[in-house]
Amino acid sequence: MRGLKDKVAIITGAAGGIGKATALRFAEEGAKVVVADFSDGSATVAEVKAQGSDAVYVQVDVTSPDSVKLMVEKALEAFGRIDVLINNAGITKDAMMKKMSKDAWDAVISVNLTGVFNCTSAVLPHLLEQQSGVVLTTSSVVGLYGNLGQTNYAATKWGVIGMTKSWAKEMAKNGLRFNCVAPGFIGTEMVKKIPEQVLKEKILIKVPANRLGEPEEIAAAFAFLASDDAKFINGAVLSVDGACTL
Ligand code: CAA
Ligand code: NAI
Repeated sequence: MRGLKDKVAIITGAAGGIGKATALRFAEEGAKVVVADFSDGSATVAEVKAQGSDAVYVQVDVTSPDSVKLMVEKALEAFGRIDVLINNAGITKDAMMKKMSKDAWDAVISVNLTGVFNCTSAVLPHLLEQQSGVVLTTSSVVGLYGNLGQTNYAATKWGVIGMTKSWAKEMAKNGLRFNCVAPGFIGTEMVKKIPEQVLKEKILIKVPANRLGEPEEIAAAFAFLASDDAKFINGAVLSVDGACTL
């Protein structure tokens, strides 16, 4: 990918799953990575370093503006600049609507939606000052099409698309780009919570390849969208879902 070498990328939720695969892919492209996660990200850092690139782990709770502010300060301390933010931290608290509690609603909104607002707000002053930068956010096939048991999650994953498009309209003139990736069902910890029978009989059956996607297949989309190869792509949603909705 063109233009990722020596860029500095903050990736939230990079201790595991899609975020970790993205950190490793960015490192492979020569980028420096801030592994930002609530959970311990030192294994991701060690793997990035083993690939010959540089990374730091910063513990962050994306729901807390103070914690996010500290994340940005630590990123600047470590690498002196920020070029890319990947808003990837996310959670599920699934229940059919008739059983969904207000707590489950609030928890998912605060990580998946307010967390994206917090992180983007905190990096923006730096991106605007340098008149360049890319903010990418992990949406979902569920944001675009809805899903049983995911009222709260679908609201956030549709919400981040609206935020992304609004930011592109506001700040394309400042040299900034904002895009979403909408993965299908990917083999990470998050998917392990789906009852086995539902996964097999209701979800995988709709994927022509009859398999889960791999985190690396989402990482490749993030690398492309962050790179100069995508410099005219702004306000877009890239579906990477193995045609599960066709
Ligand atoms: N798609 C299609 N049908 C589904 C479904 C789904 N995702 N989830 C549940 N169903 C069906 C069940 O098969 C069941 O059908 P039958 O009545 O025909 O047997 C019916 O809905 C009721 O399901 P349960 O008996 O399991 O009901 P419950 O109240 O005990 O549990 C639930 C409901 C918590 C939603 C549970 O079914 C569940 O966890 N389902 C999976 C939800 C899901 O797909 N989550 C995605 C997580 S991964 C992710 O979110 C990442 C991403 O972006 C893609
Ligand atoms: P994961 O559960 O492996 O990773 C999520 C990471 O987010 C974890 O490391 C977790 O510690 C971190 N996190 C959670 N709350 C946090 C908080 N408050 N502050 C900081 N970090 C926090 O799950 P996965 O699958 O890698 O998910 C990554 C993103 O991809 C999420 O936004 C998810 O919604 C999205 N997604 C996942 C799909 C899948 O099928 N796995 C499909 C579509 C989207």
